[in-house]
Amino acid sequence: MKKALIMALGATLSIGVASHGIAQDLKDPALIKQGAYLARVADCMACHTALHGQGYAGGLKIATPIGSIYSTNITPDDQTGIGSYSLDEFAAAVRKGIRKDGSTLYPAMPYTSFSRITDADIRALYAYFQYGVPAVYKPNRSVNIVWPLSMRWPISIWRMLYAPSPRPFQPQPGEDPVTARGEYLVTGPGHCGACHTPRGVVMEERALDASDDSYLSGGAPIDNWVAPSLRSDRKEGLGEWSEEDIAQFLKTGRIDRAAVFGGMGDVVAWSTQHLHDDDLQAIAHYLKTLPKVQDQGAYIYKNETKNELDHTAASMNTGAGIYVAQCAICHKNDGQGVARMFPPLAGNPVLQTHNPASIVNVVVHGGVLPPTNWAPSAVAMPGYQNILTPNQVAMVVDYVRHGWGNTAHGDVQASDVRKFSKGAADSSASGWATASNGWSLLSPQPYGEGWTFSPETHTGVDNAQ
Ligand code: HEC
Ligand code: HEC
Ligand code: HEC
Repeated sequence: MKKALIMALGATLSIGVASHGIAQDLKDPALIKQGAYLARVADCMACHTALHGQGYAGGLKIATPIGSIYSTNITPDDQTGIGSYSLDEFAAAVRKGIRKDGSTLYPAMPYTSFSRITDADIRALYAYFQYGVPAVYKPNRSVNIVWPLSMRWPISIWRMLYAPSPRPFQPQPGEDPVTARGEYLVTGPGHCGACHTPRGVVMEERALDASDDSYLSGGAPIDNWVAPSLRSDRKEGLGEWSEEDIAQFLKTGRIDRAAVFGGMGDVVAWSTQHLHDDDLQAIAHYLKTLPKVQDQGAYIYKNETKNELDHTAASMNTGAGIYVAQCAICHKNDGQGVARMFPPLAGNPVLQTHNPASIVNVVVHGGVLPPTNWAPSAVAMPGYQNILTPNQVAMVVDYVRHGWGNTAHGDVQASDVRKFSKGAADSSASGWATASNGWSLLSPQPYGEGWTFSPETHTGVDNAQ
């Protein structure tokens, strides 16, 4: 009886809403298109789609140190998706991390950044997820988290401490519109800090905007990929990159000075390549306004490394010998690579980042430079886990981190190589340890076997922006 009453009340309410024309507005194709674009900026697809699964139907496993979380179905299916969510409930989930049933979402969903999404953009996203996305019936999988964190209330304490109450983005007084737009995209829907900002002891991002120097100053390894500093430091950051370099990198994944790899490959393939040019310019412009943090001086190219490599035999079991035998064919003795194909290693900030995890990882597992709509060819680097021993990987990684004037800190040992090369246990080469269980709170798609790009990049060119 009570239930029927509530249902009747619900029906009256929704008729009431419809008759006020709000439901109609939400079906406005322009609004839905705006929402679709914002979903690209926020990369909702990458996390909410399982490998080979249907778009936004959830089920992607996200491994964390406390167990596995599965992303949820956010298609408008009434039973298994978010078809029954009102606009306010949707806003609470996306900006506050509070589910329709009132429980707290695990922060694998980046609501700390999404808290800055404006009301107008939340509305557009809602319109898209209600009326622009096909409903898919797919029940959610329950999380596999260790007790007591499997009860969601401890997470709500975390949320109260570290997730700000939504403060939709407001430009700072006097901020020019381009910088303001870039700041909004980076700190809000783009959630760049989720990977590029260091995290504290309970995994909270140390800063959510540029009011603190740690913001975007380089993150901890996620799935053994290290997101480097995006500050204006010249060796470890973007100090030597022009705005055009940054915008082109985000659009095509490859510029003369770098090629996208690891977790950032997903971001480019699924998200940034689809952004409008003026938004990419705004992001680049904003990033260039961030001051240096620990600038180590300018990078200066040193020719000695090339001279040494020119006189090194490929048979020598040293860093230089391994480089000549295995790497020089693509990355060249001068460390300059081949523009937009094989990235330069000389002066490349990712090599000079203090944590070598990414570099070990790319050498052990190789990588595929994702094809984008603007640079459709896929170029690959082989993985060396069957060719080199961990000790040899350490030698060659050390060599490139210090070659041609690169000034990375510290040496890399075989033990680091074993630690950073999750999955290397399958290798037949001797000396590999059992896969260490690196964790991946935010890594949207696994790399390596079964790795897939967005359907558009799969089939070639999608010019729809
Ligand atoms: C980095 C990964 C990631 C991104 C990006 C992401 N989400 Fe999520 N989202 C998750 C995970 C994981 C969960 C489930 C968390 C849990 O179970 O506590 C979730 C949960 C949700 C929920 C709650 C759904 C429910 O079942 O009640 C909604 C709504 C949602 N996300 C919408 C979005 C939208 C819209 C976007 C883009 C604007 C987005 N998400 C981007 C990972 C992500
Ligand atoms: C899922 C984690 C993740 C997210 C989210 C992410 N990045 Fe990255 N980013 C990385 C990783 C890992 C690298 C290092 C690999 C590379 O250089 O391609 C990287 C590299 C970069 C680089 C190249 C830096 C260099 O020195 O080579 C730029 C520029 C960049 N990211 C910008 C952004 C922007 C802007 C955003 C937000 C729109 C963003 N990233 C979001 C993980 C991420
Ligand atoms: C067949 C050509 C080829 C060979 C051989 C090769 N690489 Fe690469 N390398 C690439 C490509 C292509 C990428 C970009 C990969 C990606 O986007 O995932 C890359 C990326 C890298 C990167 C990341 C830099 C960046 O900006 O993307 C490093 C570091 C690297 N290679 C080191 C090495 C080392 C060390 C060796 C030898 C052990 C080696 N490579 C052998 C083609 C090659």
